[in-house]
Parts: sequence; C-alpha cells; structure tokens
Amino acid sequence: MRHTLAYLSGLSALLLPVLARPAALGEARILERQDQLDDEYDYIIVGAGTAGLTVANRLLLTPRTVSDEVIEAGNGRNFNDPGIQYNITSVPQPDMNNRRQFVWIGCCVGGSSAINGMVAVRGTRTEYDAWAELGGPNSTWTWDGVLPYFKRAMHFTPPEERLAEAFNITWDPNAWGQDEDTKVYASFPNYQNPRLIPMYNAMAKMPRMDIPLDGAGGENGLYWYPSSLDPDTYRRSYARTGHYDEQIQRDNYHLITRQKVRKVLFECDETTAWGVEFFSRDDPEEVVSVRARKEVIISAGTVHTPQILQLSGIGPRPLLEEAGIPVNVELPGVGQNFQDHAYLSVGYTWGNGVGPPVPDIPQLGNPSSVSGPNLGAWIGLPTMTEDFEDMAARYEAQDPAQYLPEGADPTVVAGYAEFQRVHAKLLRSKNTNLMWFPLNGGAGGIVMSMHIVSHGTININVTDPEASPVVDYRALSNPTDMDIMVENIEYMRKYMASPDFAPYGPRETNPGAGVTGEALRAWIRQTYIPTNFHPIATAAKKPKELGGVVDEELRVHGTSKLRVVDGSIMPLLPGANTQQPVYMVAEKVSIPLRANLDKKGAILTLYLHQAVDFIKAAQ
Ligand SMILES: Cc1cc2nc3c(=O)[nH]c(=O)nc-3n(C[C@H](O)[C@H](O)[C@H](O)COP(=O)(O)OP(=O)(O)OC[C@H]3O[C@@H](n4cnc5c(N)ncnc54)[C@H](O)[C@@H]3O)c2cc1C
Ligand SMILES: *[C@@H]1O[C@H](CO)[C@@H](O)[C@H](O)[C@H]1NC(C)=O
Ligand SMILES: *[C@@H]1O[C@H](CO)[C@@H](O)[C@H](O)[C@H]1NC(C)=O
Ligand SMILES: *[C@@H]1O[C@H](CO)[C@@H](O)[C@H](O)[C@H]1NC(C)=O
Ligand SMILES: *[C@@H]1O[C@H](CO)[C@@H](O)[C@H](O)[C@H]1NC(C)=O
Repeated sequence: MRHTLAYLSGLSALLLPVLARPAALGEARILERQDQLDDEYDYIIVGAGTAGLTVANRLLLTPRTVSDEVIEAGNGRNFNDPGIQYNITSVPQPDMNNRRQFVWIGCCVGGSSAINGMVAVRGTRTEYDAWAELGGPNSTWTWDGVLPYFKRAMHFTPPEERLAEAFNITWDPNAWGQDEDTKVYASFPNYQNPRLIPMYNAMAKMPRMDIPLDGAGGENGLYWYPSSLDPDTYRRSYARTGHYDEQIQRDNYHLITRQKVRKVLFECDETTAWGVEFFSRDDPEEVVSVRARKEVIISAGTVHTPQILQLSGIGPRPLLEEAGIPVNVELPGVGQNFQDHAYLSVGYTWGNGVGPPVPDIPQLGNPSSVSGPNLGAWIGLPTMTEDFEDMAARYEAQDPAQYLPEGADPTVVAGYAEFQRVHAKLLRSKNTNLMWFPLNGGAGGIVMSMHIVSHGTININVTDPEASPVVDYRALSNPTDMDIMVENIEYMRKYMASPDFAPYGPRETNPGAGVTGEALRAWIRQTYIPTNFHPIATAAKKPKELGGVVDEELRVHGTSKLRVVDGSIMPLLPGANTQQPVYMVAEKVSIPLRANLDKKGAILTLYLHQAVDFIKAAQ
C-alpha cells in the first residue's frame, strides 16, 4: 500500500534544467495529478515549505536512501527569481507615508528556505525564555527546552582553518549539532572580505560590547555565524535538499504540487479535522478531498496559514461573518499578533575615498561562495544606550489596547498586555538582540530592529476570501518602534565615529549627520522597511484566553486532529532570522507526532500550492 504523499510544484519545472543529473528519479516522485493520490493518509501536511518538509521527513521511519543529486539553488541566486515567489503587497501603511510593502515569501518546494538569505542564527536564551513565559506555566519552550532541537535541526561544519585564523572566527562546539541524520547544513563560505577586519576591530571596541564564541549558545554580542550552505559544494542547503530530495525512494510519502489547499474539513462535531479540500491550479474546478487518519498539519507559512484556518471557519467571529464563512471554532487570535523584523539603510562615504587600509590576507578563496553576511553585532538596548530604562518604563506604561487595531478582541488585548510585560523585560536585558548590525566591510550599512511591538494582521479579504491574504504590518503604529529605530541610527553614528575610522573621514550622506529629532523621524517614515521577510505569530502559541491559536503541542485550540507547524506559531520575534527557529519548531513537534505512529504506518501528504496569487511570469 502506498503511504505518504509527496508533492512538487511548477517550481520543479523551473529547477529541472539545473539539476546536476538527469531528472529520471525526480520525475517518479513529482505528482501533479489528483488521480495519482490515495484516498487517505495518516498525516496530511499542507505546505511543502521549510517546516512542512522537515516534519514529513522526521515522521518517516523508513531508512533513507541517499542520492547524490544536487539542486543548484545556491548562493542566494534565487533571491529575486519571481518564478518561485508569491506576488503579494501589503495594504498602505499610514505611518510610512502610505507606502506599501512587497511581501516576500517562497512559493515552491522548500518554501521560503529556497529563496532566503541563508543566514543561520538562533537568537538568545532570554528570547526563548520569553516564549515560554508567554506560553503559561510549565512551558517547555525555554532556551534549555529548545536547544536540543536547534542542535538536531542543522549539521554544523566549522570554517576552514586558514579563514578561522585570519578572521578570528570562533564557534561554540557544545552548542552545535553534527547529527549524521541531519542533512540541512550550517557552514561557512571559503572566502571572507578582508575589509571586515577593521570593521570587526572598531565594533569590538564599542562600549559594553561582548564577544561570545558565537551566538549558538544563546548569548549575544559581536560574532561570526554560518550560512545554510552545503560545506562541500557551497550551494544552498535548504528544506528540499535536506528533507526531501534524498528521501525519494520512500513509497509511503507523496508530495504533490500545483494544488491549492482551500480548507480543512471537519466531522459533524465541527471541531475534529478529517481531511482537507484542495483544487488544481490548472483547473480550479477539479476539487478533491483527502482523508487524514491521524491529523492534518498546516505548514503553509505565516501569511497563508491564517487564511486556511479562516476559510475553514476558525478565526475571529466578526471577520468570518463579514466574509460569509460559517464559524466552526471562534478563535479571535487567528491572523492577529503579526510581527516581523524591520530595517533601513544609513548611507556613509569615506573622506579619503577608500576607508581603512585593506589587510593583506593570502589565499582568500572564492567570493561567490558567500551567500549573505557572516559577521554582525547582535545587541541589547542596555548596550546601545543609557536611556534603556526610561524607554522600557515608557513602553510598559502604555495602555495595551491603545495601539492595537480598533475593536481588537478582549483576549487579544489581554495577550498584548502580557506581551508588553514580557517585552519590557527584554528591553532591560543586555541579552536581547534588540538590534542586528550586519558588518559589510564598507561605511554605513543597514540597521535592523529585531523586536517590533506594533502588531499587525494577516486576514482573509472579506470581499474575496480566496484571493491573496490582506497583509497589514501596521508599521510604526506603536511609537516605541520609532524610538528604537532612532536609537539604531544613533548607534550607527556612534560606531562610524569610532577613533579607528577617524583618519579616513567617514561622512553620513543619508539622511545626513545634521538630521535629528523630528526631521530624522520623518526620514524614517519615508525609508523604513517593515519586514526582513521574517513574518511570525499569526497562529501564535499562547493560551486561548491570551489571543493564542495553538497550544504547547501546536494543536489548534478548540479542535482535535489539527495542528499548525510553521513560523506562524512563534509568539514573539526571536532576535534572529527565522529559518533556523522554524526548523527547530518542526524538529521539536516531530517527537510527539512520531510517537503517535506505529512502526510502518507513516503516511503523509504534502500539498504545495502554486495558484491564484502565484506570479504568472514564471510559467
Ligand atoms: C527573501 C527572504 C529572505 C530570507 N532570509 C533569511 C535568512 O537569511 N535567514 C533566515 O534564517 N531566514 C530568512 N528568511 C526567513 C525564512 O526563510 C522563513 O522564516 C522560513 O523559511 C519560513 O518557513 P515556513 O515553513 O514557516 O514557511 P515557508 O517555508 O514559506 O513554507 C510555506 C509553504 O506552504 C505553501 N502554501 C502556502 N499556502 C498554501 C496552500 N493554500 N496550499 C498549499 N500550499 C500552500 C507555500 O507555497 C510554501 O511552500 C528569509 C525569507 C525570505 C522570503
Ligand atoms: C506545573 O507543574 C507543577 C509541578 O509539576 C504542577 O503542580 C502544576 O499543576 C503544573 N501547572 C500546569 C498549568 O500545568
Ligand atoms: C584577532 O584578535 C586579536 C586579539 O584579540 C586582535 O589583535 C586582532 O586584530 C584580531 N584580528 C582580526 C582579524 O580581527
Ligand atoms: C479584496 O478583493 C477585492 C476583490 O477581488 C479587491 O478589489 C480588493 O482590492 C481586495 N482588497 C484588498 C485589501 O486586497
Ligand atoms: C504582481 O502583481 C502586480 C499587481 O497585481 C502586477 O502589476 C504585477 O505584474 C505582478 N508581477 C508579476 C511578476 O506577475
């Protein structure tokens, strides 16, 4: 009997031409027609992305057969390929002068891990302990509780010795895993820019700056970090290469593509999930239902997971009623609590035209093995400014409802009050990554706000619920986010004023050194980017009475046989790019799921959607 379902995508058509070997094996596993499917599976996973592929692979007990097929998706080159992204733009953002933001997410097998910047970081102990605090008593999502799954999520390879010596790259061997069974890799390119050395030295001298071995042990400061890079080929290591391509011999695993899941189907009790309904992208009239004997797992990502829940009648009652969707489970937090990182870029030039002398490092390696920054400062507010206590106290004193959407449900407001209490502690902690300052070898650069307190929404469009979800960052709606961005820019100014740089005459070109106060705030409104492509929290893991959507085991409140496993469950931003945290979440939840399967019975389905809001240019 066939067991699991595998799904692929229109994307496969795009990737096949660059397969290192002929795609014969691959073709066998790419299902595109609904009649290739079984009627039922043990698990149905909606979304073959970062989390979905990880859970599917970890659930299967059959031994893996390894092929040496490599998909050349590497070195960040998919970053701008419209063929494997959605085409969604946010609603106008009033506090950004009504600018809109393109919502960057992957639409392919591998999901956003196929197009991301490959930065492989985790965030700090303080931040995961805050997740646990928001989860209620006895939560296991503390730093110590999640660390084993971070270790399992990525197989770490240290940098080449000559690079480690030349650039002072250190790492914490006890914090990384090297599990042979893990094929998602964290490793270093074989090149670093020697111009990073004077930058490193200047940042290391900033007041109160810590220099841990690296960030993997949950401490912050100035450190080097790896990329999600195959250590042998220097190609992208992502959910597809790590959790799918090498498992193609499994006959209990089906992955089908070109299908869009519309909704979860319930037994007549309206709360027990029995399957999903989906349709073909090529023929939307071809609607099919498939049964899940054990569970439906939604892994459609932070933007689409709330849409599937809301279309299934799980969400805020007023919204569902306005859209004409019968309410199965009233869950006001679905689509609320939305957070993302934010950034902008501060322009500088060197007075002498070139900046500090470039250290002479022999045998530098190949710059094209670099996918994203490997060096940065991750810093807490107390490290950035002596005003941190005032800022924390001002934030703590806010009325929790004041900056939420009008008419926010009382449970969502209560959850925000709790968030506010926990977040004020984060603002006072040196070990919160409030800001990320990636070092780039040049003057100026980007400053990133890693903890955002303006909570947005991602809801269905009530006039057309199956169209693209309506993304509203509600950027800068809470004035604390503006205050913090001002501090970030001031920090850039202090750093560029380092005595190390003085001989080379750094000059701020944008917004310009004289721009402060209201003028600086006006410039921020005009340049602020409310995403670093790390959306979270639209199905937050919190108690129901605090506006949560899933419980500690990621089961949807008020339902049975229904879980969410993806970035949307994160209740609060980690001070880290979110891919490694998503892998961790998927690894952690796989343990109880696996225990729920008998020896051979791993059966699952993955649907990958590439429909409606998929960019047409790709076809
Ligand atoms: C441009 C960009 C750069 C980034 N850079 C970094 C970085 O450098 N480092 C880092 O750590 N993180 C980075 N991230 C973030 C990281 O990649 C994501 O947080 C993570 O991959 C999200 O995983 P996920 O499983 O939640 O969702 P995804 O991986 O996006 O998976 C969701 C899947 O569900 C599918 N789906 C959606 N709706 C349906 C439906 N109705 N039916 C069927 N299937 C559906 C989607 O097509 C997709 O395949 C970046 C993200 C982007 C977009
Ligand atoms: C938490 O654990 C303690 C001690 O094991 C137990 O007494 C208590 O009931 C638990 N609380 C919850 C909410 O589970
Ligand atoms: C490495 O560290 C040493 C001592 O801490 C310092 O003198 C040197 O400049 C550093 N080198 C680089 C490349 O950062
Ligand atoms: C909602 O859908 C309607 C109909 O397709 C469209 O005109 C409108 O722009 C959408 N609204 C938003 C906020 O995207
Ligand atoms: C994305 O959508 C916009 C607005 O609907 C449209 O103008 C644009 O052509 C689309 N882009 C692609 C690549 O399809």
